Amino acid sequence: MSKLYINGGKRLSGEVTVQGAKNSALPILAATVLCDGESVIHNCPKLSDVTASVRILEHLGCICRREGDTLIVDSRNISCFDIPDSLMREMRSSIVLLGAISARMGRAKLCSPGGCELGPRPIDLHVSALKKLGLIIDESYGCLDCKTNDCLKGTEIHLAFPSVGATENIILAAATAKGRTVIHNAAREPEICDLQNFINSAGGCVCGAGTGTVVIDGVSKLHGAEHTVIPDRIVAATYLAAAAMTRGKILLKNIEQPHLISVLTYFSEMGCVLQVKNKSVLLESPQKLSRFFEIQTMVYPGFPTDAGPILVAMATLSNGSSMFVENIFENRYNYVGELRRLGAKIKLADRVAVIDGVERLSGARVDSTDLRGGAALVLAGLAADGLTVVDKIHHIDRGYENIENVLTNLGADIVRKEV
Ligand code: EPZ
Repeated sequence: MSKLYINGGKRLSGEVTVQGAKNSALPILAATVLCDGESVIHNCPKLSDVTASVRILEHLGCICRREGDTLIVDSRNISCFDIPDSLMREMRSSIVLLGAISARMGRAKLCSPGGCELGPRPIDLHVSALKKLGLIIDESYGCLDCKTNDCLKGTEIHLAFPSVGATENIILAAATAKGRTVIHNAAREPEICDLQNFINSAGGCVCGAGTGTVVIDGVSKLHGAEHTVIPDRIVAATYLAAAAMTRGKILLKNIEQPHLISVLTYFSEMGCVLQVKNKSVLLESPQKLSRFFEIQTMVYPGFPTDAGPILVAMATLSNGSSMFVENIFENRYNYVGELRRLGAKIKLADRVAVIDGVERLSGARVDSTDLRGGAALVLAGLAADGLTVVDKIHHIDRGYENIENVLTNLGADIVRKEV
């Protein structure tokens, strides 16, 4: 078991080049299942979730190899259609493989991922949409046994909620289905656009990603493609917050400015000075962060739920009371109890958190509760007086590539120890 040991209070400054986005890389890796050829994925982050995906792809029969930041997947000889339970449990988002495996193999078998640290995480929208495309799904004992009678057929799908994963699953299933599929009320996140771009480079015909209506004209097959994954907007927000909370200064490179607007607004409100260019942002922090008035998480282009713990951590050291409302997930405040161990003052009522800024945080032993909650604890530890030990960091490793190296390069005193 690894832990992060952080001696807080160091002012962070320097440059960071933002890693590729986990939430783009995973559906794109799922899309390689559809390709009859070799796909070359650049800027593919080295994360435990990516490793888990690769293990699933290899189980299916893909040949995967890494060359630095590039992952190469040869999907010519896929021969399996099941995902064993043990692999499924390693990564909840493997549900996004359902559409791709069903489309490629005409069959798919996997166990439903069930709930997670963020709450129940149902997959009803995925299942009902794939059924509309003609997938026959037998759900029993928590497993999904899927088959197509002939092939998947394009159709009109109205999503009750613009679920990111369901939109991706439908696009993947429809990319090689017969005819046209139209998704109404589709998720508009940048990661959907990245998936569209990959599929189109592989010979697919998807348009409308980034809007509420995505149109997929099925093609008979996809070939391999070369693609560069977009930068991770949540990782970008995390490193900006690391500088902001330590009275530091940071230049972030490899960002997509439009993807960050909803988050940067609050950095400005909290007193950070930002110089934003299209691919970079320079942040200078104030002596004392100001509170933010109110943040409500929303689907894109609203404030992203994944950046919630980051901004809550920042507010713990601000000069007043901030209100945060989580609208996307039922149970995303598990990290709050751990932040309180460091001296944070946060009241919770259902989906609302009220954060009263304190003068200083003090180091403590804390447990990562989930990926972004774990990142919030690291941020608080960087700003706290004394030693913070963050345990259960496997959650953090799901989404942050070499977090301790990145922060050390910025001047943090942080080490990973195997204990
Ligand atoms: C994606 O999860 C991301 N994961 C999440 O990032 C992110 O928090 C989330 O989108 C929202 O932006 C990946 O891309 C791998 P949803 P996803 O389907 O696709 C409900 C991180 O920290 N819902 O848009 O699972 C669901 O319960 C992670 O990187 C249904 O009710 O999100 C939730 O309340 C965490 N039925 C809401 O919709 C369904 O069938 C949003 O879920 C599907 C979803």
